Amino acid sequence: MKVFIIGCNGLLGQNLLRARPSDAWELLGSGLEGQAVLPESLSGYKNVDISKRADLEAAIKGFAPDWIFNAAAITDVDLCEREPALAALINRDTVGWMAATGIPVVHVSTDYVFDGEAGPYLEDAPTRPLSVYGATKLESEKLVLEQSPRSLIARTMTLWGRGKGGKTSFVDFVRTSLQAGKTVRIVTDQWGNATLAEDLAMGIWKLVTGGHSGVYHVAGSEWNSRFQWAESIADHYGLDKSLIQPCLTADLKQAARRPLKSGLRTDKLTADTGFRTRDVAAQIRRMDNLSQSIG
Ligand SMILES: NC(=O)c1ccc[n+]([C@@H]2O[C@H](COP(=O)([O-])OP(=O)(O)OC[C@H]3O[C@@H](n4cnc5c(N)ncnc54)[C@H](OP(=O)(O)O)[C@@H]3O)[C@@H](O)[C@H]2O)c1
Repeated sequence: MKVFIIGCNGLLGQNLLRARPSDAWELLGSGLEGQAVLPESLSGYKNVDISKRADLEAAIKGFAPDWIFNAAAITDVDLCEREPALAALINRDTVGWMAATGIPVVHVSTDYVFDGEAGPYLEDAPTRPLSVYGATKLESEKLVLEQSPRSLIARTMTLWGRGKGGKTSFVDFVRTSLQAGKTVRIVTDQWGNATLAEDLAMGIWKLVTGGHSGVYHVAGSEWNSRFQWAESIADHYGLDKSLIQPCLTADLKQAARRPLKSGLRTDKLTADTGFRTRDVAAQIRRMDNLSQSIG
């Protein structure tokens, strides 16, 4: 089976490559960069800007995959709020173009499709996005399921993990700040499930190899606040917790509204695949192990 992993150089993209269940899956990748970050995991790589529809369609046609995994997105929710046309193009329209090929798509969505008044949420809970990012992701889910019904939507939240390059994770931000004796202000009113990118990748592969389609939540097993995640990180590394100062989301004056009492329940994932994601402490331990092999 041939899988075209779009956005293979991002955090999830790299984890999807590393979590490949067997060599029976031939992986082809694309990204904005001139070369693949993990070329040894791929049998082909193409530099494709997905905002150019003709280039995207030509790459899909050239690879002729059995599956498209879409790990590309603009994940900066405040940028999406400031640049809604860009968010709509990358996070919605390009996904519609992928699904219009009729090839089944694994598309990754978010808890931001919910308003955060009654989390943690099951898959069929009513959606009400508060931000441009959440709205474009919800619209992209609909485009995928309407146009390519054997597709899979994996909703996740607050990804962290190990990959080459890319953004600094919340774990590394808190750890390096506390190690340097700097205070960090962390919100106490955003609740949800921190998710190890490796768990998301493994969950996606379990769902695909098990023949599942439709909407699934794939997120960490523990529901708590960002402030508690920061405390768990300090505990793990034996750092001074008094440097973690509580604040509220409203204090941060961010462009995009966040769902506050959010979170994703993974009962359906576990019932259908037997797969269980990790709690926060196990995720941090795993990131330490992965640091030694990945850097
Ligand atoms: N990160 C989170 O906390 C979070 C939470 C919920 C859901 N998700 C979803 O999970 C998925 C994976 O997220 P992630 O954290 O792995 O993101 P990531 O590390 O930022 O990777 C996204 C990738 O998309 C690529 N990309 C952006 N615009 C592109 C374009 N025009 N053409 C081709 N590639 C483009 C980026 O390339 P460059 O790096 O070169 O720009 C990057 O490699 C996304 O769908 C995201 O919305 C993430």
